[in-house]
Amino acid sequence: MDRLVITGGRRLIGQVSVQGAKNAALPAFAASLLTDKPVLLHRIPAISDVTTMTAMITALGKRVEVLGEGTVRIENGDSLQREAPYELVRRMRASFFVIGPLLARLGEAIVPLPGGCTIGSRPVDLHLQGLQRMGAEIEERQGIIHATAQRLQGRSIYLNYPSVGATENLIMAATLAVEETSIRNPAKEPEVLDLIAMLQKMGAQIELCDQEIRVTGVRELTGVEHEIIPDRIEAGTYLLAGGITRGTVEVKGAIANHLTALISKLQEAGVKLQIKDESITAFSEGCSEAVNIVTMPYPGFPTDLQAPMAAFLTLARGTSMINETVFERRFAYVVELVRLGADIQTIGQRINITGVKRLHGTKVRTPDIRAGAALVLAGLAADGETEIEDASQIDRGYTDIVNKLAALGAQIERREEVCR
Ligand code: EPZ
Repeated sequence: MDRLVITGGRRLIGQVSVQGAKNAALPAFAASLLTDKPVLLHRIPAISDVTTMTAMITALGKRVEVLGEGTVRIENGDSLQREAPYELVRRMRASFFVIGPLLARLGEAIVPLPGGCTIGSRPVDLHLQGLQRMGAEIEERQGIIHATAQRLQGRSIYLNYPSVGATENLIMAATLAVEETSIRNPAKEPEVLDLIAMLQKMGAQIELCDQEIRVTGVRELTGVEHEIIPDRIEAGTYLLAGGITRGTVEVKGAIANHLTALISKLQEAGVKLQIKDESITAFSEGCSEAVNIVTMPYPGFPTDLQAPMAAFLTLARGTSMINETVFERRFAYVVELVRLGADIQTIGQRINITGVKRLHGTKVRTPDIRAGAALVLAGLAADGETEIEDASQIDRGYTDIVNKLAALGAQIERREEVCR
């Protein structure tokens, strides 16, 4: 496994361009299963989760051609298959997004249950309850979901929690169902809206109401050319990199209204932000101030920026509190930040971070994508050398992080793990 080695203490200065959103690209690949026609996607990020999703839809019968610079063409290969390979679903939870499209197209889907991960048990009960509401027969045998439905029937579905994945899976299933499906209490993250925009261009009849998404089923969907939205989580991570190193970082392509919660918290902490149509610049000279964070569904503070924000707050003046309300176990990175010299207490779903003067580089491990990003941020600010094991976790969600940070002046390199 590769390691990232960072020598910290350098202010980051310069521009970085944001990639396409991982969490919009993955459902867009799943949505390509809803049509026989070609799908052309732009601004697809070069990350390993996209590689995994490419393998998934290829296994299901699609042919994926990378046309260069983030453009991908998805066409029919062999006939659509109903069974998703276990090893791909196990590797990436988002591959569970294929169950809605497969049920809608084939009337049958065999998809392994995605495992939990370090951030939580990650159940899919809301996905399955919604599909059952629409008439699917759902059976679980040895951890594999066998779903069948003559033809999905439009229904009114209430989500107990505005789950991003369940909302996306059910919207995709409903596009080809009979009559109208109403999804109440849906997720409304920008990535969900981007999927809706793509599906509407494919001929899906989708209406966005206040607390409801209404989908009227059609017989079939056409092909589409669609550009994925920029990745607000990557953008936020680089703004925090500018903040924690007391540098000046311009994130080109960042969309400010996708980041309102982070922007207001950074300003509250004393980071100056310059917001333009096509970019956001973070610059900070002095020590930042402690702030309190509660993660919430969009437009609240995004859970995916909780760990990177915590890293930033380890050097803020005063004591910050972070309350993680979306996932039940998203503090695995805290012990690693403490090894770098941070002063953090974990109290259930909450952590209290008391700012310290300095962090000191050491070896740390990477529990998950965003925890890895948090450790990179801390390493950029720490004295001495920080070695982050298992960099492949970070590569799941961040394109070319080493070159992007080096271009901003960071002293960072990737060391291949010599297999002993
Ligand atoms: C999506 O995951 C994102 N992944 C996650 O990003 C993100 O953290 C999350 O949404 C919240 O914004 C992708 O889009 C590929 P949820 P998802 O369903 O869909 C519970 C990253 O780092 N829940 O909104 O899995 C669940 O346990 C990743 O990029 C149920 O109880 O998130 C969690 O506590 C991490 N039953 C909460 O809802 C269900 O059936 C939110 O989960 C589904 C979810």
